[in-house]
This record gives sequence, structure tokens and C-alpha cells, in this order.
Amino acid sequence: MGKLRTLGGLDLRDRRVLLRVDFNVPMEAGVITDDARIRGALPTIRYLLDRDSRVVICSHLGRPGGRAVARLSLRPAAAHLERLLGKPVAFVGQTVGPEAAEEARALGPGELLLLENTRFHPQETANRPEFARELAALADVYVNDAFGTIHRAHASTEGVAHHLPSAAGMLLDREVQVLEVVLKDPARPFVVVLGGAKISDKIGVISSLIERTEALLIGGGMANTFLAAQGFDIADSLVDPHSYEAARELSSKAGAKLHLPTDALAADSASSNATTQVVNVGDVPGGWQVLDIGPRTLEAFSNTVRKAGTVFWNGPMGVFELAPFAAGTVGLATAIAESDAVSIVGGGDSAAAVRQAGLQNRFTHLSTGGGAALAFLEGKRLPGLEVLQA
Ligand code: 3PG
Repeated sequence: MGKLRTLGGLDLRDRRVLLRVDFNVPMEAGVITDDARIRGALPTIRYLLDRDSRVVICSHLGRPGGRAVARLSLRPAAAHLERLLGKPVAFVGQTVGPEAAEEARALGPGELLLLENTRFHPQETANRPEFARELAALADVYVNDAFGTIHRAHASTEGVAHHLPSAAGMLLDREVQVLEVVLKDPARPFVVVLGGAKISDKIGVISSLIERTEALLIGGGMANTFLAAQGFDIADSLVDPHSYEAARELSSKAGAKLHLPTDALAADSASSNATTQVVNVGDVPGGWQVLDIGPRTLEAFSNTVRKAGTVFWNGPMGVFELAPFAAGTVGLATAIAESDAVSIVGGGDSAAAVRQAGLQNRFTHLSTGGGAALAFLEGKRLPGLEVLQA
């Protein structure tokens, strides 16, 4: 991997800077419910303001499919950033176009502008050169601090860097430094914990990690697919039958490294007032579903984590948003926090669970990118990063 160009190498004083951030944050009715990604960009924004840069910020939000979708407007993020910085943040309801160009041109030193969602344009995800050029025309230099999108070759993450002097922001730089150690030289034993609902988009990373870890612990909805593929009857639990074959192949490749739940918290519905029962994984009552790992599994997973030199964790162990099904995820977060291991959490849900449990200061690093961190550890090509490397 080439050396990442960083902020120190750019002439920023008084310059117009196009800053790509990952403000793809969860929102409910226009209110941001987890602002970790916005906070993550603050050091770079302050660095630019300290140098009197004129800062034009852009980001995507959700997957609007190349058209304007009102609930995916970035306007609430401008108001939120304004509160965090204690400084006005102008918003323009365009990503490129005459208004965006005029607002960017009118910015004074140390002023900020947030552009509308880049994905309101189909040219963004298609990485169209004309769109990248239009974005580039808004500024003199380009800084990418959107770690969560480095695995995407989009106009605002890759294309634009071909048209302006460019560098990584401080968040991106820190994320890469931490993950590079995990990828190349993790303190051993290296234990990976994966959860969350889907295995289909994690097959590649599991396959690649099996060869580099001492233990791979799988919980959450993903575990159901592995168990069902091995012939366990898990009643009405969420499974992905299309991935049974892949799950069987991964199980045989991993052998004893793969740790699956042996017990589970089953429930008659996915609701806060459900009737629940701890069962062995083969004994889920008919019509019920598995919604968390069981206490015996938590104990076994915790023991493995306590002996680790490095733990990388992505994906909750159950439906932790509902109190009756949070014990597995919170218990695991506590075991990792109490261990002496280098501990890295990748992904919005598991990082949110860590913060919900008040354990954020006891982890080595909470990554702002789920898919990006997994792609990094899989050893995939990362177009948004490559373009910033010397
Ligand atoms: C994420 O949430 O992982 C990043 O913002 C990337 O979003 P995407 O998967 O829609 O490209």
C-alpha cells in the first residue's frame, strides 16, 4: 500500500477546500439519532478553519438511487454541525449547479457550506467524469475524510481526486493506521467477532479472515444461517437459505476456528413484551425465533475474547435495540472492554451498542465505517483510498 497523502502536504491557507465526509447518519423524522460520524469529522473541519480555508462539504446520505428524495436531504446535518461547531454552516439545496457554484464562490475565509446529498445525482455512483469535474470546479483542493466510503469508486470519493490536489483528512488517516496494524500484524491471538443479519455480503471477508485469525465467533442473525445449514431446526428465525452452501463451505474451511452459538434466547415475537426462553440451538419452539445469543454462548465467547491479543468486532449478537434481547451484545461489549486486547469495533450498530453501554472509552478504536472496515480487512481494492496514495 502506498503512503497516504495527508493534510500537512496541502497548501490550505485561504484556499477553497472540497471536503468529502461521511454524514450518512441514522435519522428519524429529520432528527439525527447517532452523530458519531459527524463528530468524527470535526478535527479535520477545525484544522481547515484554523487555516482560514473556505470549506465546501459534501456527503451522501442513504441510497436515494440518483434522484432527490426529501427525507434524505442533508439539511438537518448542516444544522447539527452548526450546533457542534458553534459556528454558522450554510446549506445549499444543490450538489452542483449555479447556486452551489455561487455559494461556494461567495464563501469567505473560515466559512462553511454543506452541499446537498451527492447521491441525488445518478452520476455520483456511476463516477461520471463530468460530475467529478463539476464538483472539482467548486474548490482549489480536495480532502477526503469519509472513511466509511473508501470502498466506493464514486465521483465524490474517487473521480474528483483526479482533478485537484488531494489528501486524506485526519479521521481517514487514523482509521487506516489502526486497521493497517490489524490487517498486517495483529497482536495474537487475533479474534474476530461477526454478527448482524446478513451473511451474503460478508462471505468474502469471512473466507479471507479464516486464514488470518485464531478464532472466528459468529452470532446474530448470521449465526442462524450457519446453524440451519448444518441441519439445526431453528423454527421461524431469520435465515438466508441462498447462503446455506457458502455457510457449509466456510464451516468446513474454518474447522475448529469457527465458534457458533450453542444456546439462544428465543421469543414468540420480535417485540419488547415478547415471551422469551433460553434454549439449546436445536430446541427452538415451533413458531418462535432466535433473537439473541444465550448465556452459555456469551460465556464461551467472552472467554475467548479475554484471551485475545486483538479483537475486531462487527455486528450485534441480537436485536439489541429491544431491551429483552440486548444481553448478548452488551455482555460481549463488556467482555471486550474488560480484556487487555487491542479492541476495534467496525460498524454503526455495534459501535452504537458500545456507546449505549457507556463503554466507548474502553475500546482502542470505534471505526466510523462498517462495510469499509470489512473491505479493508478482506484486503479488497479500496478506490477512495488508492487515489490518495503517493
Ligand atoms: C456506510 O454506511 O457504510 C457508508 O456510508 C457507505 O454507504 P453505502 O454502503 O450506501 O455506500
